[in-house]
Amino acid sequence: MSDANAEQARIAALLSQMTLEEKVGQLLQVPAGGGHVPELLRRAVSEGRIGSVINEVHVDTVNELQWLATRQSRLGIPLLVGRDVIHGFTTVFPIPLGQAASWNPALVTLGARVAAREAAAVGVNWTFSPMVDIGRDPRWGRVAEGYGEDPYLTGVMGAAAVRGYQGASLADVGSIAACAKHFAGYGASESGRDYNTTNIPENELRNVHLPPFKAAIDAGVATLMTSFSDLNGVPASANALLLTQILRDEWAFDGMVVSDWESIRQLAVHGFTANDRDSAFEAATAGVDMEMTSTTYADHLAALVRDGHVSMQRLDTMVSNVLRLKFRLGLFENPYTDASHFPEAACAEHLQAARDAAVESLVLLKNDHVAHEAVTAPVLPLALDRLSSLAVIGPLADDPHDQLGTWIFDGDAQYSVTTLQAIRAHCQAHGQADGGHGVAVHYARGVATTRSRDRAEFAEAVAVAERSDAVVLVLGEEAILSGEAHCRADVTLPGVQEELIAAIAATGKPVVLVLMAGRALAIERVVPHVQALVYAWHPGTMGGAAIADVLFGAASPSGKLPVTLPRVTGQIPMYYGHKHTGKPATHDTVVHIDDIEARAPQLSVGNTSFHLDVAHTPLFPFGYGLSYGTIEYANITTSHSTLTPDGSITVSADVINTGHRAADEVVQLYVRDVVGNVTRPVRELKAFEKVHLLPGERRLVRFTLTADHLAFYGRAMRRMTEPGQFHVWIGGSSTTDLRTEFVLSA
Ligand code: BGC
Repeated sequence: MSDANAEQARIAALLSQMTLEEKVGQLLQVPAGGGHVPELLRRAVSEGRIGSVINEVHVDTVNELQWLATRQSRLGIPLLVGRDVIHGFTTVFPIPLGQAASWNPALVTLGARVAAREAAAVGVNWTFSPMVDIGRDPRWGRVAEGYGEDPYLTGVMGAAAVRGYQGASLADVGSIAACAKHFAGYGASESGRDYNTTNIPENELRNVHLPPFKAAIDAGVATLMTSFSDLNGVPASANALLLTQILRDEWAFDGMVVSDWESIRQLAVHGFTANDRDSAFEAATAGVDMEMTSTTYADHLAALVRDGHVSMQRLDTMVSNVLRLKFRLGLFENPYTDASHFPEAACAEHLQAARDAAVESLVLLKNDHVAHEAVTAPVLPLALDRLSSLAVIGPLADDPHDQLGTWIFDGDAQYSVTTLQAIRAHCQAHGQADGGHGVAVHYARGVATTRSRDRAEFAEAVAVAERSDAVVLVLGEEAILSGEAHCRADVTLPGVQEELIAAIAATGKPVVLVLMAGRALAIERVVPHVQALVYAWHPGTMGGAAIADVLFGAASPSGKLPVTLPRVTGQIPMYYGHKHTGKPATHDTVVHIDDIEARAPQLSVGNTSFHLDVAHTPLFPFGYGLSYGTIEYANITTSHSTLTPDGSITVSADVINTGHRAADEVVQLYVRDVVGNVTRPVRELKAFEKVHLLPGERRLVRFTLTADHLAFYGRAMRRMTEPGQFHVWIGGSSTTDLRTEFVLSA
């Protein structure tokens, strides 16, 4: 018998013994007691009326629950133990958006593996991660949890996370089930307000929002979570187009689908159903297998089956999806957790992995040359030999908690290395090294929190800057300003931080701004004041150490933006893969509000797609990021001028580091389908590779494309390729102009 048949036979054998109540029980996920087993839960688990618990991280309690489930209940079915392990467990990695900035899927896999090991050590066997929602609106606080604006990058990173959590086999010690969420369209919440309505044309849904889910499924993701949001009038948690037609019929997903927290009960709040019974009916028949925390299945599903509204066949399918996962996790054979099989949480190896990930998540956006004793050199890396003192200023410079970011239920700030700590340690080591001299580090907070409007500490911060040769300012957003339900209508720096930057800049000292944030911030007003800018997202436990590595040149920054940085909030949504429009703006067509004469005739500003009061370009484009090398691109070529439907084509270019320092560079390939059955984005990322380049090194980087890379959903909502002309670019950001073209033949 094949493995699949054997698995099916085990499921069928178990199903045939189950009562209706036991079947429904498998579909219920309930909150655990947190360190003890409440009496009601004990009884329910012992009677086989619970399929999963959420939020239990005490290993003895998890083992007790598994004992009750497997030894006390009639059929001995183990429990799924779910937890939001989003970017680390005890050891916190950069927020997913920061991990995406590494453009290094291997790092994402390793981070997820470390998180899985630490979580599995306490008995967690299922994480609600990765979030692969497309984030094109940085007002939405949950962009922090995803991998940015691009379907391809998000898919690659989501798949990488799945491989890390689930390992080679779900049954391996240290593997936990992953969950791609939130299916689907959640990132398109209107006005970036969490849980808000989404209206997404099916074509855009299929071309933009769904591909990362497909990539996660192709990587073997065990589960999917539905979205809270209303999609085109049918809430995602009862959306049969998504959950049945696309997920099961088109993609043949054989994993399990869980609702979001109470999202089935909320169907009535949406005004989609009249009551809990209807909600249970709609969700069950649309395709939600397990209900997270609300009790509409517990209260009504058995009756709906008895009354014939939900078929026994449908119920059996739902239960099979749950049991299949439990078999695949090896829980029937091995329900208990022995913590001694795992490395210590936050052990040296895990901290090193978090540091490596944080280093690669940092994006250098600006690095001006400044004059120093008749030579000019870039501000970064900071040359300690030329400094005698350094100011470190800002509320996030020495905050072990806020650098961790959102969703860190189990993160432990006692392991955090802050920027100030790491800078102090580095300067001290420099002083003790042969030939090194002491560099005094002066610290001031500047403002109490990133939101504070109190300027009382400005004077001290300015004094500290004045006493120092250079300034490192660590500002941005506290952790609490991003994440679920933490949305902002104005994505500039909160509080009076812009004023603080201006005050520090007025000292004339070179200023390095390090920004920690859970989203793309609109920082147009800030950038001119600083000589260097490092975008650090929320970098996690080892964030400070990583920042010091980059500031002092132990590592060259290599991150690239996984999201467009707008100039002002009003440009949102702004993303590189937009449509061309019939009247695209160019530098020649835009007119600024300040340049319009009084009573100018209507047509004098030209009729193209731009705002009168802000440039039509972003502040920093998707894919952008500098290093300590000087990277140039040349000689783009294709192996053939024509790609056949079954063939492949190689696109290559030279990447050259003409600088004096080794650097890592993310080489990116974009295409444009010039004429489409539906209009196609002006550019789409199709491949990337991070390469290490020594000073002076020239490397030929090659990418292979097949027709499959060019496929998209057309008017008929079927995946298709179309013969015709394609433009292709290779470069260091989405605005590269190194272009050639090829033809896809019929
Ligand atoms: C979030 C999910 C999360 C779940 C469980 C919900 O509020 O939307 O992303 O996994 O809670 O904590």
